[in-house]
Amino acid sequence: MPHFPKPAEGSWTEHYPELGTGPVSYEDSISPAFFELEREAIFARTWLNVGRIEQLPRVGSYFTREIDAARTSIVVVRAADGEVRAFYNMCRHRGNKLVWQDYPKEETAGTCRQFQCKYHGWRYSLEGDLTFVQQEGEFFDLDKADYGLAPVQVDVWEGFIFVNLDATNTVALRDYLGTLAHGLEGYPFGEMTQVYKYRADVHSNWKLYIDAFAEFYHAPVLHAKQYVSDESSKLMGYGFEGLHYALDGPHGMVSSWGGMAPPKDPSMVKPIERILRSGNFGAWDPPDVPGLDPLPPGLNPARNRTWGLDSHVFFPNFMVLVWATGWYLTYHYWPITHNRHIFEGTLYFAPAKTARDRMRQEMAAVTFKEFGLQDCNTLEATQTMLESRAVSQFPLGDQEILLRHLHHTAGEYVAAYQAAQ
Ligand code: FES
Ligand SMILES: [Fe+2]
Repeated sequence: MPHFPKPAEGSWTEHYPELGTGPVSYEDSISPAFFELEREAIFARTWLNVGRIEQLPRVGSYFTREIDAARTSIVVVRAADGEVRAFYNMCRHRGNKLVWQDYPKEETAGTCRQFQCKYHGWRYSLEGDLTFVQQEGEFFDLDKADYGLAPVQVDVWEGFIFVNLDATNTVALRDYLGTLAHGLEGYPFGEMTQVYKYRADVHSNWKLYIDAFAEFYHAPVLHAKQYVSDESSKLMGYGFEGLHYALDGPHGMVSSWGGMAPPKDPSMVKPIERILRSGNFGAWDPPDVPGLDPLPPGLNPARNRTWGLDSHVFFPNFMVLVWATGWYLTYHYWPITHNRHIFEGTLYFAPAKTARDRMRQEMAAVTFKEFGLQDCNTLEATQTMLESRAVSQFPLGDQEILLRHLHHTAGEYVAAYQAAQ
């Protein structure tokens, strides 16, 4: 889909007539039955981002990923040939979970030469081949070649590792991600290896947290206390407008203003931000890494001078935020039940060269955490009231187009799945 400019008259939303403009039901976020359908229709069928290539630096590096929404666990590994492989994290003997440390539900990572089951010691190569069976002679016509680990489709886009649990899937990852992703290609994601990570167990539907990060106009209201009070009331007075919105298939993006990094007038921001030259938008001065100038064509699609960041929502549960100041963030939302999910927010910076750079990153990371907690704080309150079903239809504004699209898309996937059954 092309990027449409906002017309002088009309709206972003009306460019996509299939979305409609009427009130939206949030039944999809409170219905246990709908969530059971989402497991199969969405999480067992789409490409899911499970990590970054930097997590597999050498042959034998591996990590596990719990995918509760699809009721499974996988192990992702760099095999002897250097390629990334993924397998169901399950021993072929009697089904024990293969790779875990002290607690079977906890994810783990490390480096090994082979995988060995904790139960009876069956061993598997990094390619998933069964190489050793304890007391092999006591089995009946057991051909080890028939008992390799069950493979999972895996592919890598710009260093992001994705899996697809549908063995019959024929849609290549890059085709699935579509034109919005193509527009990000070439960004130096691989240079940003200093990682700060937050994880939260949130008692809301997974889509509600995406909703909270898929529009920015709540910022002057919900996050008012994060700003110098004069600026906060000014922002409230003007109203916040995103610079650009676009949808492509199940995915979407919003582009936002970034006038605080650096601010036009230093008094617009708090003293610690002035001293450090860093804040919510990251360190104000971009790092010296190749690939930031010029930026890939998909970034700042409105070519606006005050551009601050682009936020891409890749269906179903992966977001990438690229900031004008030269760093990026990812969000993941891993459903557990219809009203609970694990949220992960991960910040990626170029490695700090000085202590001051490091302080700037820490400043951005703790500021992000404050914003994230404020966003999170509304979710459980929203979930409980939605579950009361006192009201069932909700009006969404034009800047809420990505939310409207997300719920519409989830509904379409579920409907297509039901039709195919
Ligand atoms: S279950 Fe893995 S070796 Fe028996
Ligand atoms: Fe927010």
